[in-house]
Amino acid sequence: MQETTKDILKKYINFFKEREHVEIPNVSLVPKNDPTLLFVNSGMFPLVPYLMGEPHPEGDRLVNVQRCVRFEDIEEVGDNRHTTAFHMLGNWSLNDYFKEKQLEWVYTFLFDVLKIEPAKTYASVFSGNKDAPRDEDTLKILKKIFSDYGIDPVENERIFFREEDNWWQRGDTVGELGGPDSEIFYYIGDKEIPDKALDPSKDEDILLEIGNSVFMEYVKTENGWKRMGRKNVDFGGGLERMALVLQGKNDIFETDNFWPLIETLENISGLSYGESIESTRHMRIIADHVRSAVFLVMDGVEPSNKDQGYILRRLIRRIVRSGKSLGLDREISTELASLVVEMFKWLYPELEEKEGGIKEVFQKEEKRFRRSLKRASKEIEKYLDQLSQKASEEDLAKQAFTFYQSLGYPEEIFLEDLRERGVSFDTRKFYEIYQDLLEAHKERSRKSAAGRFKGGLADSEENTVKYHTATHILHEALRRVLGDDVEQKGSNITSERLRFDFSFHRPVTEEEIIQIEGIANSIIKSDVPVKSKIMGSKDAIAQGVNFLSNEKYGDKVKVYFVGESLEKSYSKEFCGGPHVDSTGELSSLNIYRQKKIGRGTIRIYAKFDL
Ligand code: ALA
Repeated sequence: MQETTKDILKKYINFFKEREHVEIPNVSLVPKNDPTLLFVNSGMFPLVPYLMGEPHPEGDRLVNVQRCVRFEDIEEVGDNRHTTAFHMLGNWSLNDYFKEKQLEWVYTFLFDVLKIEPAKTYASVFSGNKDAPRDEDTLKILKKIFSDYGIDPVENERIFFREEDNWWQRGDTVGELGGPDSEIFYYIGDKEIPDKALDPSKDEDILLEIGNSVFMEYVKTENGWKRMGRKNVDFGGGLERMALVLQGKNDIFETDNFWPLIETLENISGLSYGESIESTRHMRIIADHVRSAVFLVMDGVEPSNKDQGYILRRLIRRIVRSGKSLGLDREISTELASLVVEMFKWLYPELEEKEGGIKEVFQKEEKRFRRSLKRASKEIEKYLDQLSQKASEEDLAKQAFTFYQSLGYPEEIFLEDLRERGVSFDTRKFYEIYQDLLEAHKERSRKSAAGRFKGGLADSEENTVKYHTATHILHEALRRVLGDDVEQKGSNITSERLRFDFSFHRPVTEEEIIQIEGIANSIIKSDVPVKSKIMGSKDAIAQGVNFLSNEKYGDKVKVYFVGESLEKSYSKEFCGGPHVDSTGELSSLNIYRQKKIGRGTIRIYAKFDL
């Protein structure tokens, strides 16, 4: 029997549990309290405070699987390995074990438990730079591991030294954590025994990265990277990629993570996967995007023209657009979304309960986009009517780009229209120019996205920390004035304000706002301490600690409370921090805006008076 993704995950978690790791729950794709990051894009994101030294309630050895989205890769999707969503297997040492145990364990897991072939496995090691030395320890450990499996591990044949590619850091701001890493590659080519001198930097097509151990012992300072006095391990393994290896494929879309979607597309389009490059590409785009979009909707994202909602909108539009290229002129996304629910309810049981809502989002958004495509067709017709039979490729590419930008009209469909009208053009030349326009546009949007979403430790900035504590106080004040039905639905903090979403059946009145502000400000003025305590989650809930009902928690949790003791606290919540030490550090709080967002949810904005 072939190994399923579920089997691999189970084996991984068990392997590390047997080595005293505690399994921790995964978190929503939408980052909490970090306005600099659009989506959780690596397993380390929720663990940053603990890697920095805060004690984790569950201990120093952790294991998990975390869904991640890297939307920067959206244009790459269509080949045999890029996807926008993936699952990262993680095992963590919070200043506990280091290189020797980590490498020994991870290779034991791969070679002995998953039984992948050592002869097809390659590794890379950090070659050193001005901040950190060449990683001789890792080289020594890897040489021993490979030798134990009968492989002669010659440097630059099996184990490769690289500089930039073997340094991991999440962002580049002062305070970020990073360190040398060691990647694991697997040969996915056709040969029984691959050439041992294959090089991960050159042979990217046949060497697939399946995992990466980061030895996170550095912190970024004003003067470059310095040792922080803690030796952490952050391992990230690609679950879908391991499935590819174990299922004997060289295409991620042929694994059980995508294949049922591809089969459905074959059935409804009458086309065969692999038959033509173009239709294969479109099937991959649809399968990838439906899966990511379902995960996003599961995590509460709704289509919009901003931030996370805009990415979701783009994913759904691209599904429709690729569907058209497969000749599918009917609604497809809802049916495929249901299939994703079916495929992944083993991992996310909540999908079943949320299926109705998920389908509604897809249906509405696809309808909307189809309507705008229809509207666009009038303008397109007008253009085509006045077009002569011979237009230059440059004019056509510019026009296609304008239609795509202004009407969301896909260029493939535009080309089909031209062909139907008998307009002759050189497709290759068209695409060369069109790609250039797209690249220039992508570069511009990358720059602006990079500017906004730098990926930094925004949550440790002084003001953000203050707003975080203020959010807890406000939550309590809301419950006191509006009643216990008020439940936190989400929050977002920048250094300038806080935003808080909560369940309530009507807008809050002016009078209530004054009362809420009054309570919050009296807590702030009393200058009481903010403390934390690690406790069993059941015990905490029994003691009335506030928690998010749509969030999963481990057996042990960290509770932050505002007051001298938990029993006599003004507010108590499950939270990882950070917070100010005392409420006296905050200025008085002012609620300056509210709006209704969806059924039964109110959003308020508040900031400190200067
Ligand atoms: N955090 C590391 C990565 O994303 C493991 O590759």
